[in-house]
Amino acid sequence: MAQESQPNSKPGAWSPSCAPRIGSLELRGISKEFGGVFANEGIDLTVRSGEVLALLGENGAGKTTLMNVLYGLYAPDAGLILVNGMPVAIRSPKDAIRLGIGMVHQHFMLIPRHSVAENAALGLEGTPFLRPAAWVSRRIEDFASRYDIKVRPSAPVWRLSAGEQQRVEIVKALIKGAELLILDEPTSVLTDSEADELFAVVRRMTAEGKSVIFITHKLDEVLAASTRVAVLRRGRVAGVMPTAEASKEGLARLMTGKESIQAASRTAGTENERTRLEDGGTALQAVELSVDDDLGLPAVRHLSFSVRRGEVLGVAGVSGNGQRELAEALTGLRPLAGGSFQVNGAPASRRSCRDLRSLGVRHVPEERNRLGIVAAMSVAENAVLSSYGEERFCDGIFLNGGSIRRHAEEIIERYGIKTPSADARAGSMSGGNIQKLILGRETEGSPALIVASHPTYGLDVGAAEFVRSRLLAKAGEGSAVLLISEDLEEVLRLSDRVAVMFEGGFLAVLENKDLDRGRIMLLMAGSTDALEAGGRSDA
Ligand SMILES: Nc1ncnc2c1ncn2[C@@H]1O[C@H](COP(=O)(O)OP(=O)(O)O)[C@@H](O)[C@H]1O
Ligand SMILES: [Mg+2]
Repeated sequence: MAQESQPNSKPGAWSPSCAPRIGSLELRGISKEFGGVFANEGIDLTVRSGEVLALLGENGAGKTTLMNVLYGLYAPDAGLILVNGMPVAIRSPKDAIRLGIGMVHQHFMLIPRHSVAENAALGLEGTPFLRPAAWVSRRIEDFASRYDIKVRPSAPVWRLSAGEQQRVEIVKALIKGAELLILDEPTSVLTDSEADELFAVVRRMTAEGKSVIFITHKLDEVLAASTRVAVLRRGRVAGVMPTAEASKEGLARLMTGKESIQAASRTAGTENERTRLEDGGTALQAVELSVDDDLGLPAVRHLSFSVRRGEVLGVAGVSGNGQRELAEALTGLRPLAGGSFQVNGAPASRRSCRDLRSLGVRHVPEERNRLGIVAAMSVAENAVLSSYGEERFCDGIFLNGGSIRRHAEEIIERYGIKTPSADARAGSMSGGNIQKLILGRETEGSPALIVASHPTYGLDVGAAEFVRSRLLAKAGEGSAVLLISEDLEEVLRLSDRVAVMFEGGFLAVLENKDLDRGRIMLLMAGSTDALEAGGRSDA
């Protein structure tokens, strides 16, 4: 393909208007192989102007690879890209940008020490020689106000939240003249309300005729925010359809290739699938708990609550309101600054992790790679990481390799963990498989209390459903589950009661049937109006 086949942008000159309207963009027969594995295999896909195309697929389906090809980061092994019917050569992101294609990666590429404006100026052609930062700041403000994107040009990037950094990346792409914007798993770093704001920006872009491709593995987002959806499975297109004709079940089936994903759900307002246990008594009783954060500042303040046996108490809220400190205190990872708690009636405050384990407290931690596994140890060793002192694994001072191995193989088998063997390094597995291993280990037996922090964060649909059904099954057997999650849908689906955490306390603990997404979001933002409105959800 010749360079001349590109549209008429003058090399070196920069003006957003020279990016052509992408009337249509077509990927034809794209294949890309990595060391014998096809990440993309003969993919055909078109993008139309003004549409929001969701690119849906499980982890490893080939979504990022395909978009990296389109953005000029990977050269395809086969296939063509056509813009307005003409084949184009996209050999680098620079070529892509000239064609009006912009991309916001899953991991941001901003320089922390620089300001937003300085970051935006990098790689921008046509900035004036004098006072480029002031010029860029003005452009940022123009685009930010045009699309109602909240960014501050002078803020240093290191002070920005992930959501703010993402907004900077979007504005950067718009300044460079993006007519087609690719967003790779944009909501994985956002809170629910930030995600809603992002989709509002996307709508404003498409109203102007721009197109957006957003990658996701979340079905709800596809249905809420796209106009068309393409499903990838194992490097191939499994289906493409207008979103209006798509259903969650159908999409899940296309994604996983399985006939049906057993939705382990108990949707808000509907009858619980799991009959709630006869009140088996209180499993966790916390009284006036106070916990400090790493800087010694109060993170949890005088919090009193209880979780019954067989109950799932969901803790919703924006991260950073004390959730992490609460989970760590209950599992013995962090000292209490005040108050106390009991597990099945036994005093549990000021005890070590190991003591708490013997009381039946289990932990599915937030940072699975740091706190959940030892990456350098084998899968088998990790499977007994928190129980190796038990008699069945340990004769006197010697670990019993055989029984450890058998136990690990059982977990691998039962949870469908994909690993070459029990001897493989745990750190070499994918996130979903690591989480299954942790879950297998932590939900074994009859735990009194399972503290699960963001247990499905970053997992694909299949793995996430598995984790959820496992937690529900344990609650069904009588474990108390404290489910901390920013995923509202998940909290509403799994919990019997929902607590909204805000600034170190529970703003409210409500029966699930009295809740909906809107009310929780108001509470998450610290607004107690939603409480005063009683059961009314229109307030
Ligand atoms: N740079 C790379 N080198 C080797 N293999 C890769 C590379 N990028 C992706 N892959 C492999 O290609 C497949 C598709 O990956 P990816 O496109 O990242 O999927 P997705 O974005 O849908 O999760 C995976 O099996 C992945 O391991
Ligand atoms: Mg990806």
